Amino acid sequence: MGQFEAGANVREPDATRGTGRLPSIIGQSMAMRRLVATVAQVAPKDVTVLVRGETGTGKELIASLVHARSSRCQGPFVRFNCAAIPGELAEAQLFGHVQGAFTGATHALRGFFAQADGGTLVLDEVGELPLAIQAKLLRALQGGEIQPVGAARVERADVRVVACTNRDLAAEVRAGRFREDLYYRLAVLELIVPPLREHREDIPALAAEFARRYGKRFGDEEVRLSPALVEELCRAQWPGNVRQLENAVARMVALCSAADISVEAFASAPNLVASAEPGIDPESTGTLSEQLEALERRIISRVMEAAAGNQSEAARRLGLNRGSLIVRLKKYGLMTHTVLRATRQSFQDASTGLTSSTASQQAAA
Ligand SMILES: Nc1ncnc2c1ncn2[C@@H]1O[C@H](COP(=O)(O)OP(=O)(O)O)[C@@H](O)[C@H]1O
Ligand SMILES: [Mg+2]
Repeated sequence: MGQFEAGANVREPDATRGTGRLPSIIGQSMAMRRLVATVAQVAPKDVTVLVRGETGTGKELIASLVHARSSRCQGPFVRFNCAAIPGELAEAQLFGHVQGAFTGATHALRGFFAQADGGTLVLDEVGELPLAIQAKLLRALQGGEIQPVGAARVERADVRVVACTNRDLAAEVRAGRFREDLYYRLAVLELIVPPLREHREDIPALAAEFARRYGKRFGDEEVRLSPALVEELCRAQWPGNVRQLENAVARMVALCSAADISVEAFASAPNLVASAEPGIDPESTGTLSEQLEALERRIISRVMEAAAGNQSEAARRLGLNRGSLIVRLKKYGLMTHTVLRATRQSFQDASTGLTSSTASQQAAA
């Protein structure tokens, strides 16, 4: 009972009337196209859907697409996070309660199910729902019957449930933490959202979209991520998936004063450079010399950015003379406009074959 009193400031259900607009889902990779195509097939069928995937992969986004592409798209779209609300309180939140149902229940509350009547209810982190509430959820799914806490009679609600989970629910069933009957009921149709490491080719588009979005939000409309930075983002591990990428880009946009964000912003951000080993991509293929060249290209591209396009400085850091740096810049197609602008003088030096040390002596002179 104390729990209910403590929850006096509990939020009203997070209901939004469908706008009919499709959520924007970024991704042209095979994995994402296949997923979106499956959603298109599944959404119009008015059955329960289970969305599985690691945290941050976009499960809620996919759930909202299921709603937007269903015949319920004009109805309410309600989300309930099963992990965020403790057991007893979750029951009252989901199914509602009558006035005086328990201490502190000074007025009746419409639950999330009733709010979602005629629309879609997303049950996020459904694996966290306590067993006692699982039984009640099963009844609601089977007969469309909901019983508010303290109510003598059941009510009806026409709700399509889309459940999301990052857990292996079959394993949860075996461990006795999840009802088997509810599992089968939820998993009539399953959508698997791939982890970001399985569709890395979408990273440039995702990062660009987040840069655009946060640039706009922070009042700095024209934010651009440098090619070397995007390359680095493509290589990072992203255990937190798209959400982690989004947060990383948001942070860089917030912290960078320049319109062009360089690779340095990423390298200096704490716990973001999550590559298993620096410079070694576990998925890279090709001969040893091909892989070494790819590595060399990345190192040079990073150092050039870190040195703000200054070839003398980059050559010094790399222990090369400027001429051989330029040979490599050409070989790897790293002669970008910024480089050209920043170091026009350097090309002249290079053509005369000056080493970095004599060049810097000249510059000092
Ligand atoms: N394919 C995608 N396109 C655009 N944004 C995405 C995509 N996938 C995930 N996101 C964004 O990443 C964040 C995490 O997604 P979310 O659906 O909350 O993940 P999950 O529910 O799996 O933890 C959200 O801000 C979401 O908008
Ligand atoms: Mg989620």
